[in-house]
Amino acid sequence: MAQKRDILVSAPGKIILSGEHSVVYGQPALLTAVNRRLSVSIKEADQGIEIIADEPPDLARYALEKTEQLLKKEIKRGLKIKINSQIPVGRGFGSSAALAVAIVGGLFSYFGKTWDKALINQIAYEIEKKQHGNPSGGDNSVVCFGGFLRFQKRGEKFIIKPLKIKTSLPKFILLDSGRAKETTGEMVHCVSKKYKKEKLKVKRTLSLIGRTTIKTIAGFKKGNFNQLTTLIKENERLLEELGVVGQKAKRLIREIEKLGGAAKICGAGGLKAGSGVVLCYHPKPKIILNFAQKQKLVHFPVKLGTEGVKNEKN
Ligand code: PMV
Repeated sequence: MAQKRDILVSAPGKIILSGEHSVVYGQPALLTAVNRRLSVSIKEADQGIEIIADEPPDLARYALEKTEQLLKKEIKRGLKIKINSQIPVGRGFGSSAALAVAIVGGLFSYFGKTWDKALINQIAYEIEKKQHGNPSGGDNSVVCFGGFLRFQKRGEKFIIKPLKIKTSLPKFILLDSGRAKETTGEMVHCVSKKYKKEKLKVKRTLSLIGRTTIKTIAGFKKGNFNQLTTLIKENERLLEELGVVGQKAKRLIREIEKLGGAAKICGAGGLKAGSGVVLCYHPKPKIILNFAQKQKLVHFPVKLGTEGVKNEKN
């Protein structure tokens, strides 16, 4: 078996610029990788699998087993796996997708398999299913390929289009509304329950989110951000209609709107406590930064459109 003894793989976090939840129902989404990364180091050990991580190791263990199963390969000896992450958990930053993708990439190297990103992505998607029940596959795809992606799910197929952004982007500010108490799976389930109860209404909301996404993507492609305030506000209102934004995040977002800006959650959201990170836009970003400082809000400075999963030892 061709094995590398010392493997280090990193994967980025992500945010959803437009299209969370509606993407689960086949609408397009605009996602981007961010420059906060999670790394997985794999070293051979005598026996057993030891996982050293800040978060409970269940998902990492499942990721290892699923990858072995889908690649029809077996970890023959012991492994010492260390997970280091700069990606905040439960904030819509895609921490679980980054973990899944990085572990799969790491095991490709461990088994001496050439990296095939499409296959890494497919396996990571199977792992995400365990974590989230019915994920769209958008998170793992952007974490795998990096950059900016237009992502759409057609049945079990992904339509992934990397977006070339020619102009410089406006400054987005990411403010923390707090960690969500609910998992992504629970929030996705929340929407699906509503969908079953009020199908027509929810269908309409989802397709309206799809429309704002299409317009947002067109603006990004042309480098025309004139409509951005309106589009982000519209998107947020529709997410609120879906019932995925908690009171704390809503209050924060209304404050930002009063200051002349726009803001939206950028992941699954959350109801009982925080709703994760909030994407804020203002033609004069300083206004939001001053507000955040006064309110002592946690602000995550990030770069968008960064590299996807990466073998750090190559
Ligand atoms: O909060 P996150 O990072 O897990 O993002 C979830 C995005 C959803 O659209 C709500 C679910 C999905 O699978 O696309």
